[in-house]
Amino acid sequence: MVKVLGINGSPREKSTTEQLLSLCLQAAKEQGAEVEELRLIEHPLPTCQGCVSYYGNCNLEECIKQGDENTSYVLKKLIDSDVLIFATPVYWFGPSGLLKNLIDRMTSLEHKQKILDGRVGGIICSYEEEGAAMAISQLFLALSDMGLLFPPYAYTYNRGKEIDEMTEHYAVQLGINAVELYKRLNGSKWWRR
Ligand SMILES: Cc1cc2nc3c(=O)[nH]c(=O)nc-3n(C[C@H](O)[C@H](O)[C@H](O)COP(=O)(O)O)c2cc1C
Repeated sequence: MVKVLGINGSPREKSTTEQLLSLCLQAAKEQGAEVEELRLIEHPLPTCQGCVSYYGNCNLEECIKQGDENTSYVLKKLIDSDVLIFATPVYWFGPSGLLKNLIDRMTSLEHKQKILDGRVGGIICSYEEEGAAMAISQLFLALSDMGLLFPPYAYTYNRGKEIDEMTEHYAVQLGINAVELYKRLNGSKWWRR
């Protein structure tokens, strides 16, 4: 069964981010996937210590050693999933600090080993004024470099508190397409050594 992890980067209860993510996860569940939401606020990660810089020692083992129980819990959840949906409010034209901390820590999965190679990704954003495209682009760049593949219509973003019909359509479509893509990839790996 395809395992889908929805990573919620909003610190708020019943947030817009969470509503969008739920639509996506529900659609994935209806495709037969096993779905789970990971609320980063319940497992906040300590900031990355920059071990990778200038050929330093950065890997999963080291990151878990340098981090705390949340670090191992969250990184292992990611490794154990097939589809990763990253959902975040826009904070200053980028993802929330909760999610950015995770992206930084995910260097330990990417560096040398490309542990997430062949996983399928998706991106969900909630915002009020400006910056959704920048936040989404940032996430795309990092996640692609980490070996994730994206289905068509791989992101959606909603402006304001009310979720509009089109955003909802995209969130549902993302859930369906992400699961479908993972099935079609049939476990293929992409990193050339
Ligand atoms: C620290 C902070 C920075 C923010 N920066 C932006 C921003 O750059 N652009 C924007 O449109 N909204 C910004 N917002 C507003 C949130 O993106 C918006 O309220 C979002 O819909 C909240 O999502 P949530 O309900 O999922 O928490 C910011 C909010 C906070 C708390």
